[in-house]
This record gives sequence, structure tokens and C-alpha cells, in this order.
Amino acid sequence: MLRRGGAGPLHLQLAEQFRAAVRDGRLRAGHRLPSTRDLARELGVSRSVAQAAYDQLHAEGWIAGRTGSGTYIADVVPLQSVQRRRVKPAVEPDERLLSLRPGIPFIGAEPDAGWRRAWREVSAQVPARGYEDPAGIPALRAALAQHVGRVRGIACGPENLLITNGTTHGLRLLLAVTRRPGERIAIEDPGYLSAVAAARDRGLAVVDIPVDADGLRVAELGPDLSAVYVTPSHQYPLGGRLPVARRNELIRWARSTGATLIEDDYDSEFRYDVAPLPALAQLDLDRVVHLGTLSKMLSPALRLGWLVAASPVVDRLAAHRAESGDWPGWPMQAALLAMLRDGYLDQVVRRARRLYAERRNYTCSVLSQYGQIIGQDAGLHITLLLDESVDDHTIAARARAAGVVVAPLSDYRRTTPGRPGLVIGYATPSDADLHRALHLLAQVLKDRA
Ligand SMILES: Cc1ncc(COP(=O)(O)O)c(C=O)c1O
Repeated sequence: MLRRGGAGPLHLQLAEQFRAAVRDGRLRAGHRLPSTRDLARELGVSRSVAQAAYDQLHAEGWIAGRTGSGTYIADVVPLQSVQRRRVKPAVEPDERLLSLRPGIPFIGAEPDAGWRRAWREVSAQVPARGYEDPAGIPALRAALAQHVGRVRGIACGPENLLITNGTTHGLRLLLAVTRRPGERIAIEDPGYLSAVAAARDRGLAVVDIPVDADGLRVAELGPDLSAVYVTPSHQYPLGGRLPVARRNELIRWARSTGATLIEDDYDSEFRYDVAPLPALAQLDLDRVVHLGTLSKMLSPALRLGWLVAASPVVDRLAAHRAESGDWPGWPMQAALLAMLRDGYLDQVVRRARRLYAERRNYTCSVLSQYGQIIGQDAGLHITLLLDESVDDHTIAARARAAGVVVAPLSDYRRTTPGRPGLVIGYATPSDADLHRALHLLAQVLKDRA
């Protein structure tokens, strides 16, 4: 029955042949196997090889029995062999391409001192001795309440904070617990595609609301909306900053209709030469759910964020989580607490703000002759509006062929028509790569003209 030949140590080859015979039913439970001596003779291998194969199969539970009384195939359920395939990353990184895709901050090659300090502090602690609070570590909720009070002006306490795995996670949880399928939710158009996907997955009807240079056109909000998703501090992707008058109008509208405003505050830390604007949650925490994230300050890979809402909403979300077990792990929460306490997060933001301000200026200076730049007052990206006649997918494809990845603006548009363009992130690459990427892109844009 057994063959010699193949790759790997002989005893493992033998063991695998036995397994295969059990899996496909050639060997059945109770079948008596030859002694190691007979097997070795039959196959022309040493007895120690036969013994090692049996030991392996014994340890895995495929065979039973003892020396003396014989060895039998154990009573195992014949298993389907598992299909194995290479694990591919969701996005195959192509090392040759330079990325100007929006959304990812600059992350240096080496961990800095503050980062190391935080993780040293975490490693010196034992983990919580139970399931912790599903809303998040209480001390972290308190520290974040202070943080959002200081940097976003939102008056709140730990009871208003829920720790999430980032904006998308928080949004999906909120929709799952507080919205019913069939309800209508307004989302900016063009807008954040993950928010649209989250709403559709919950069975909500998405109502597309146009956006202008200042952000959401609040006057276009119709009746029968149960929620509005909005990016007031830096409209994604056009970059408008919702003026105070429109913020007030939006709050008044929500109060009069009873709708919930979902404020995605994804990159509000980054703002250049312009005054801060009040967060919607600062104006009325009873009508607004505010979503914050570490994704733009540190890295999206950390999967950590927070949700600020009226305490009954937080309580409902936490109760849901107590059932689902789906909340961020203790180490990352503990690390963020350490980073907040020692001022590291503020330091990172200050440093990044200086870097991004320079890069923003540079990006605008290279690209301004090829279109109209908008959204440059804040965030980690600008949008370059192109002439009506241009197909932004073609430009993005040509840029890619030249070695640069950019996002075509039309990808973010749903039903509201608008100019073509490119959404260009300047935060991610090194200075040298940003320089190269922008000049390659400029060449593509010049060749088009
Ligand atoms: C509009 C918007 N919101 C939120 C996020 C971040 O999402 P998360 O916190 O889930 O990483 C992004 C990231 O690209 C974004 O563009």
C-alpha cells in the first residue's frame, strides 16, 4: 500500500500516506496495521522510520493500540482534506508603485521614544482579570473624555465615551443597534464609500445629498430621514469645512425632525492656517453621535477609535457588545491610555501637523497649474478638480502606468453629477517619494494638455 519517494523526512511521508488512506476510506477504523518490524521490511526502511511514523500518527490520534496488542486505525471521522491556498493580503502592495492614495498618515521607519514608552508601560502590567467593561477601559474613557473636551470642545464625561475599533466599526455598531432596516439615511455625495456600504449592509435606504465647496448642502435635507452621516471638519473627499452657520442650521434641522447626526471627525486634528470650527457634538450631544479615530494620527492598523454620544446611547451600544463580545482588546486600549497620559498623542499630532503643512504647500505648488485645488485647508489630502472633458479614470490609469497611484474623484460620486478630479494624499510617502510621485503625476497631467 505504501510508496516510497517524495519530499520531506521519510517518517512524515509515511504518516501522510496513512492519513490519506484513512481520509479517503481505504483504511477504516479497527483495521490492524503491520508491526513496525514488518512495515520496515515491506518498505525497505529502517525500523526507526516506521516507529517514528506510528508515533506521529499516535500523537495525532489517527491510530491506537500498544506494542504487543497490535496497532489499529482509531475511530476517527474521515475528514475532508482542507483546501489550502496562499494567504493573500487584501491589497497586494506593489513595491514599484508610489502611493498618493488618500487616507494613510506618514509612519516613520523606526518606532519613536514615545511609542516605545507606551508599550513598555503596557508590558509591565498584567491584563485585566476579566472581560473588562464592554464600553472600554474606564480610565481610558475618562482620559478620552478630557481629550475630546480639550481638542474638540465637546463637554462630556466617561459615560459618553465608547471605545471602538475605528470609525467604521463604531458606525456599523451604531447602525446595528439604533437603526432599523428600511429607514432612510442621508450621506454626502460624493462621500465616504465605507459609510455607504455600512448603511446598505444594515438595510438602510441611502439618500444622496449634494456637497459644495463648504461641505454638505444642509438645505437639501428632505423629510423622513432618520439619520445623516456627515464629515463637517473636512468633507470627504472634497475637503470643505462646514461653516458655523450651516452647522447651526443642521442642528436646528435635526432638532426639528428628530434625526440623528453622525459626525465623522476622521482628520480634524490637521488644519492649516485656519481657525477651528466647533464640532457638531459640541453644539448638541443629544442629537449628535461623534466618531473619532487613531487612524489618521497614528495608523489605521491600530484599529482604535472612539464614539461620543449621549449616555443612554452609549449604554445601549455597550449592552449589545456585552452579548457580542466584539470590543477592542485590552493591550491597544491600555497603550492609548499611556499615550494620552504622557502627552505622546499631542506630540505626534503637533509634529505631523508641521510636516503635513509643508507637504500640503508643496503639493499645491506642483499641481496648481493642472486644475483647481480644493480642500487644502485641512486633512491629509487635497482634491484636484479637472476640466469637465477629462476622464479621471484614464488619468489615474496613466498615472499608475507611470508608477503613481491616485484615486479618481468619480469613484466617490454616486448620483450627484460633478467635475472629474483626483483625490491626492500627501501624507504617506517619504519626502523623496512625494517629490518623485508629484513630478510623475504632473508629467501625466501635462501630457494630457
Ligand atoms: C471619511 C473617513 N472616515 C473615517 C476614516 C477612518 O476609518 P477607520 O477609523 O475605520 O480607520 C477614513 C479613512 O480613510 C475616512 O476617509
